[in-house]
Amino acid sequence: MNLKGKKIQLQAITDSDKDYFYTLATQSDGALFWYDDKQREKRSKKAFFRDWHEGYFDSGKPKAGHCFWIMVAEEKVGVIAYNAIDEHNQKTEIDIIIGSEKDMGKGYGSDAIQTLCHYLFDRFQLNKIWIEARANNPRAVKAYQKAGFKKEGILKEEDHFQGKFIDRVRLGLLRKDFS
Ligand SMILES: CC(C)(COP(=O)(O)OP(=O)(O)OC[C@H]1O[C@@H](n2cnc3c(N)ncnc32)[C@H](O)[C@@H]1OP(=O)(O)O)[C@@H](O)C(=O)NCCC(=O)NCCS
Repeated sequence: MNLKGKKIQLQAITDSDKDYFYTLATQSDGALFWYDDKQREKRSKKAFFRDWHEGYFDSGKPKAGHCFWIMVAEEKVGVIAYNAIDEHNQKTEIDIIIGSEKDMGKGYGSDAIQTLCHYLFDRFQLNKIWIEARANNPRAVKAYQKAGFKKEGILKEEDHFQGKFIDRVRLGLLRKDFS
């Protein structure tokens, strides 16, 4: 499946090409914002793919969640994913990572988020899409706001990251606010 944005395209990641996702999520510039040194040391590939289970790479199970490459021209610059659809509450969470610092701040992330949100609101009966960022990651918060998300609250000292407790910012996008 391919979804076309303004600057990027999203291409469904299949089971056979998910190894590069592991490399990008654990060893790239962007990975420093996902996992701290301790988590990267401890986290085996097996544990990684326990969280990012096979449903994320199986186009036959769209409600289980799915991962997409963020493509610029022919290059895989990052990954965006939605988690399992919460059918009762009609919501889902998304996650995003751009691998290389050189590709950040160019509008790819906010475009990828908007493109995925279009698909999700079209495809599923969703009322809300939500995302979180650590409070010390203002670029992520700004990118989510650019994509239309609004701040909903702060989760105090939610993460222990690089030896310190860090707040998380939660942002949401309601169907009625999405144009
Ligand atoms: C977060 C991420 C997905 C955003 O994607 P992106 O392509 O870099 O974001 P965009 O270019 O669409 O938007 C970023 C905005 O933040 C702004 N920005 C950059 N650094 C900033 C800072 N320190 N403070 C505030 N705003 C900042 C940019 O200027 C841009 O806004 P503008 O277009 O109005 O100028 C990407 O940077 C990334 O993957 N980072 C590393 C991994 C990560 O943090 N993932 C999210 C974990 S929750």
